[in-house]
Formats: sequence, structure tokens, C-alpha cells
Amino acid sequence: MSLVLGIGLRSGTSYRELRDLVEKALAGLSPQDVIRVVTVEGKETEPGLQRLVASLAAELFTAPSPELSQQQVPTPSDEVERLTGTASVAEAAVILSGAELVVPKQRSARATVAVGKLPDNQRQPAAPGYPQAERETVHRVLAERRDVRRGFLDQPIADDVLTRVLESAHRAPSVGLSQPWDFVLIRDIATRRKVHDLAIAQRDAFAASLPADRRNAFDGLKIEAILDTPLNIAVTCDPGRGGRHVLGRHADPRTTWFSAAIAIQNLWLAARAEGLGVGWVSFFEPGEVGAVLDLPAQVELVGYLCVGHVEEFAAAPELVRSGWAARRPLSWAVHQEAWGQRGLPGAPPSQVIVQDAVQAEGVAKPVGSQVVHLVVVDAAQPELLERPEALVVQVGGEKPAADFGVLWRPARSVDEALELGVEVARDLVLQGVGEIVVELPVESDVSRALARGVRLGGLACGITVDEPGEMRDSSA
Ligand SMILES: Cc1cc2nc3c(=O)[nH]c(=O)nc-3n(C[C@H](O)[C@H](O)[C@H](O)COP(=O)(O)O)c2cc1C
Repeated sequence: MSLVLGIGLRSGTSYRELRDLVEKALAGLSPQDVIRVVTVEGKETEPGLQRLVASLAAELFTAPSPELSQQQVPTPSDEVERLTGTASVAEAAVILSGAELVVPKQRSARATVAVGKLPDNQRQPAAPGYPQAERETVHRVLAERRDVRRGFLDQPIADDVLTRVLESAHRAPSVGLSQPWDFVLIRDIATRRKVHDLAIAQRDAFAASLPADRRNAFDGLKIEAILDTPLNIAVTCDPGRGGRHVLGRHADPRTTWFSAAIAIQNLWLAARAEGLGVGWVSFFEPGEVGAVLDLPAQVELVGYLCVGHVEEFAAAPELVRSGWAARRPLSWAVHQEAWGQRGLPGAPPSQVIVQDAVQAEGVAKPVGSQVVHLVVVDAAQPELLERPEALVVQVGGEKPAADFGVLWRPARSVDEALELGVEVARDLVLQGVGEIVVELPVESDVSRALARGVRLGGLACGITVDEPGEMRDSSA
């Protein structure tokens, strides 16, 4: 049997008082079965409690007061609530541990103890997370990391700060511990100018590929800060690093590049914690940057980062603030057991993308006015890509050659086609599309269902969806 003790105590409660109270509460139960002691956050430093936990050879855990206050307990106390913000510490701590309450709250002058029995599968106590305040800081850094392109200050970055950031990057996980990354620090203005020229050329090429309205929006966006930051960092990948038998890479070589990308994320987060802005620039053909930096032929560019102190970190991504794109709800991205069964942990899985489209309560709101012609086809039709406003959705056939002008959506059923259509439309709206014109050059059940989904998804987000006449009639 494994027991857990929930203990509430006032500051300065002696070991002796706690020991006597625990002895009384355990009457008939063995102290040796106590594997865990749980108290309210903040009381873990109490010397009397620490000595008690040591004498029981148990582990001490804490729980935040708000979490304790949510537990239903047999003997709540108004006084404890007034002092700690929760109507129970001892019993609530036992219940929060997942234990069955076997001895309700016993009290002494300054402390309370309750005893719980842990289910068999919980005998092994899980390693504790960080205390709440530290957890909050970690999540805050993750939420407040920003891609920064403007507002950089003309201030040098101290070597010790930069080293800490690089150390965090270098601690990233990597396939087979191959650590395929390197960091090239670039301060020289002549080198940065050459890299800048490459980015400008790619910027122009991208702008030229855009439909006119989207091009206008893009003109107002800043996409790099190569010359505005005192430091640029090129993060590279050596795909062969570690030789032939790198553990975990044999079946999926992409894991090498994933590892380098994770190092960049570590760098980005550590920089945010240090108050350094980072902007990732990918407007390059990687080999051209490699040539400017004189990289060895076997080394590839993964990310080019502009780094420096900044005036401020914006609360939301620049692409959101400028109306270029919008964030995707998490509930669309979490699938339970099988693709399409979406929903957050604890929520019943559903086709949430379709359902809230049906209820026309789309979470996404249109952010742009770009017009896209969705051409739904069964098999590849390369000539359609000549039209810059066209996005081809191919619902069958072989996987087409990689081209961002073609969305391959090989629907396995009419229902799946409908859901794919909803998702395509809603994701386009997140990327600034304000009007979709559906074209169905060749009709089939699946292509019609996908087009219906596009209509549903688009209308739920408040955009205009134009369709072939007979389709509109059949779906009305
Ligand atoms: C692989 C990658 C490449 C990116 N390339 C660029 C880029 O070339 N120019 C740019 O302005 N932002 C670039 N970004 C930044 C994204 O636009 C940014 O992460 C996204 O809009 C979300 O904003 P946030 O990072 O502030 O949360 C890139 C981000 C990633 C992960």
C-alpha cells in the first residue's frame, strides 16, 4: 500500500507537533507506507515539515492554492480559506494527488493532516514540475517570443549574454546527439550588405509572384533587419555529422535538419529571456548565402537570424498586427487517436472545423481581401499554374511535384473531402484571403464535396465564395 499525507500548517510549526499529529492520523497504518507528503505552495521551506518528510523517507510535493481550492473536500474550513485562499489544504492535497481519502482531516494546535491511499498504478510518484511561478515564466517566454524586424537599438551585445544564448541553442535535442549545427556570427557590414542584397532580390521575386492586392499589402511589410542589427547569425547544418550510424536518423534523414531548427528555437527563446530581439530571414536561396559566407560545400544554411537589443517586444506577431495573417485555433490542430477527431485534451473529439463552420460561428475572422481562384481537379493539370491567382486543389491522382500552387488533398471519402474543403477555406482566410472563386472543370462526387466544404468554411469566416451555378443550387 502507498500512502500520501496532505499537510496544512502554520509557519513555525514544530517537527514534534507534526510527528505527533501524523502518528495519530496514521493509527493502524504504517508510516513506512507513506511515500508522498503534499502541502500548499510556499510551505515547503518549513523546517519542521522538511524534518518530518526526511524522517518518513518520503517525497515532498507542493500544490498551488488555486488548485487546492478547486477540490471537493468533506471538511472545508472558513478560517483556512481566509488564511490561505483555499478552504482545505490537507484533504484537498490528498484528493489532488489522485489518492482516495482514508483518514479525514485531523488537527493539532497549528497543523492539519489527512491521509490518502494511492491507487496501485500511482505508487511511483511522478517527477515534480517546477513551482508555479517558474512554470509561468517559462510559458511566458514561449508566448512572448517574437520575430522582430524593427525597433532595433544601436547597442552592442555583451559577450557573456551572447554566450549564454548560444549555450542554450547548443543544448538543443538532436537526432542521435549528432549536434549537426554551427553558428556563424557575422558583424562585418560588407558581408551583411552582400547578404542583404540577396534578400532584397528574393523579396522582389516574391512580390512579383503575388496577385496585385496581396502585393500592395506585402509592400508595407518589413521582412528582415540584416543591416539594422549589430549581429547576424547564420545557423547551419552538416547533414553527415556523426558518420554512418547516427541513432534514429537512418529511417528519416530529415531529423538532421529538424535538430538544427530546434537549436534555432532554443536560441530564439533564450534571446527573448535575455531581452534580445531575433528576426529569422528566409528570403534566400540557401546556397547563395553559403557562397557569401564561404561555407564548406557540405554545410547547408538552415536559418539566418538578425539579433540585437530592441525598443520593445510586440504583444502579437507582426503578421497578425499588420493583417497579413491570423493565428490558427489549437483545437483544429489536435487530433485524438485518428486524423479528423479534433479537440483539446478533455474535450470530446469532433470535426470541430466543420461543426463550428456549420454553426457559422467561425473563430477565424477575415483579415484580408485577396481573391483566390480555387480550381478543384482530379489529376495534375500543370497548365493551370500559369495563372497566378489560381490555387489548384488536386483531390486524386498521384502526388504532384512539389509546388505551392497545388494543394494535394486526396480525399478518401466524400465526408473527408467536405472536411478538407472546410479546412482549406479556413486556412486560406487565415492567410489573408477575402474571396474564393471555386472552379470545377471536371466534376466528381469528391470534387463537389470538397467545393461544398470550401463554401461552408469560407462563409463561416464571413468571406465571399463564388461557385458554379448548378453547385450553388444543389448546396442551397
Ligand atoms: C522558418 C522560418 C522562416 C521565417 N522567415 C521569415 C522571413 O524571411 N522574414 C520575416 O519577416 N519573418 C520570417 N519568419 C518569422 C515569422 O513570420 C513569424 O515567426 C510568424 O509570423 C509568427 O510571429 P512570431 O514569431 O512573432 O510569433 C520566419 C519564421 C520561421 C520559423
